[in-house]
Amino acid sequence: MTFKEKYGNTALIAGASEGMGAAYAYALAARGLDLLLIARRKEQLEATAQQIIEQYQVKVLTIICDLAEPNATQKIIQNIGETEIDFLVYNAALSYIGPYIATDISTHRNIASINMLTQLSLVHYFGGKMVERRKGGVVIMSSIAGFQGSGFLSTYAATKAFNRVLAEGLWYEWRQHGVDVIACCAGATATPNYINTKPRKASPLEPKPQLPEQVIEECLKRIGSTPSFISGTGNKFVCFLMQHIFTKKQAIKMMGDGMKKMYDIKE
Ligand SMILES: NC(=O)c1ccc[n+]([C@@H]2O[C@H](COP(=O)([O-])OP(=O)(O)OC[C@H]3O[C@@H](n4cnc5c(N)ncnc54)[C@H](OP(=O)(O)O)[C@@H]3O)[C@@H](O)[C@H]2O)c1
Repeated sequence: MTFKEKYGNTALIAGASEGMGAAYAYALAARGLDLLLIARRKEQLEATAQQIIEQYQVKVLTIICDLAEPNATQKIIQNIGETEIDFLVYNAALSYIGPYIATDISTHRNIASINMLTQLSLVHYFGGKMVERRKGGVVIMSSIAGFQGSGFLSTYAATKAFNRVLAEGLWYEWRQHGVDVIACCAGATATPNYINTKPRKASPLEPKPQLPEQVIEECLKRIGSTPSFISGTGNKFVCFLMQHIFTKKQAIKMMGDGMKKMYDIKE
């Protein structure tokens, strides 16, 4: 059975104008799915959509929407109309780097809205319809930062733990209804967002950033076989050490110390 036969005709990708979101769009178009792509930057999103149409001859529609807005889900549902969504990727996320208190509370609240609240609503609405039809797939982007407290991106990491745990629970609930759910726990990945943070190398253990396409191909291969996975061999190895060899305290300290070095953070 092909990917399209298994999941259906149309994918919705929240956060699709560049980086891993765009890589999901290309990878799903390559599998023959039509696309609905969401992001804030019209020009960037439309350029991505146009390139995909030219390369894969699938239908691609764009929805300009800020996922931080409280009415984002309603806006998306209105734009989509009667189109059935067979595959949902919730990719967008907001992060920050620095001390918790030095970062404005409005940023922390926006992180919660984009990374958790709008995700909950979209997954509830479109996942619910998939469950009714007994067919579909949902990918939720998480991060290896969410496996332990991660100082200087504490709120972001907490939302990434939420993403993984949500996907794992829904994997269990929905597998008997024919819907596959997976959390993709990525490590450092060379997206424009990540590159713009200009990280320094913090430790010899640190794996080389993956390419977005590598993460996405692994995810689309693994969906249906596991509730969550860690992308890339280097990330799997580091997570094994952090979870099974080091104590929790050591793992949390390694993450915080690593962030301080990577971004020259002064306490
Ligand atoms: N990159 C990494 O190293 C890494 C590591 C681990 C996990 N992850 C996870 O992987 C996912 C993607 O990571 P990334 O940060 O590198 O991003 P990305 O895939 O490069 O893309 C972010 C996408 O989301 C859109 N977006 C961001 N905020 C939005 C908003 N408020 N409303 C609508 N669209 C929005 C952006 O488009 P516009 O700007 O046009 O809106 C862009 O298309 C995230 O969930 C992240 O937590 C990333």
